[in-house]
Amino acid sequence: MDDKPLRIEEKHPLAIRWFHWVNFPVLAIMIWSGLLIYWANGVMHLGPIALFPDWFYHPGYQEKPPKPGVYELSARLAEGMSWHFLLMWFFTINGILYVLYTAISGEWRHILPSRNTLREAIHVVLHDLHLRKEAPSQGKFNGAQKIAYTGVILMGLGSLVTGIAIYKPVQASLFTQLLGGYTVARFLHFWLMMGFIGFFFVHVAQVIRAGWNNFRAMVTGYEIVADEVTE
Ligand code: HEM
Repeated sequence: MDDKPLRIEEKHPLAIRWFHWVNFPVLAIMIWSGLLIYWANGVMHLGPIALFPDWFYHPGYQEKPPKPGVYELSARLAEGMSWHFLLMWFFTINGILYVLYTAISGEWRHILPSRNTLREAIHVVLHDLHLRKEAPSQGKFNGAQKIAYTGVILMGLGSLVTGIAIYKPVQASLFTQLLGGYTVARFLHFWLMMGFIGFFFVHVAQVIRAGWNNFRAMVTGYEIVADEVTE
């Protein structure tokens, strides 16, 4: 047993926890409803592979008689649009408030990458892959987290801007043209969504790896830390 003295320390402010946990279901519904819209004109490809195959939209389609799947995504364009255009307000307002709070409270100092961040992030990756033994230096967030969190905030901004460009391509035509036109804006909007899914899997895997104490701190705000004992 490790007998270092333990203490409870505040880690995440209440406001950040609210913004974070509101963002998660809102973004999940944005992605789901976005796919309902995408289905109506599924043009994206990954090389020769169409995104997405039939079973993705209606998993029971090969059964006789065809069975609707639980996450049936086809033929629900209007429903998708209603959800998407309602939730976009929550996503945008929550995101703006998060960025404002982070800027005003000084929390940005824990997130914004600095000159050493890239080196730190490489160190974190090598350590996680067991290619480097020595633990990376860790403030509130390590270098890899700083890059990932700043990146995902910029992705949120990107989704908003490209979203406006394809939501109102006539009224916001200047926006749409600056982004390279409707098709380019739609392409970027789609791949940002794929990026969120990629971020989600890596983020949740890292949260599971980091353990209960780290996760609980994002819920309660507090973390248990062990004091360093100097002999
Ligand atoms: C089941 C889903 C999720 C879980 C369990 C989760 C968990 C966590 C935890 C535990 C932290 C704190 C990390 C630490 O202290 O080392 C964190 C931070 C963060 N997460 Fe998540 N997260 C989830 C979904 C998301 C999603 C969908 C996004 C955005 C797309 C996101 C973006 C962030 C950001 C930006 C931070 C840093 C927040 C700050 O301190 O300002 N998370 N998350």
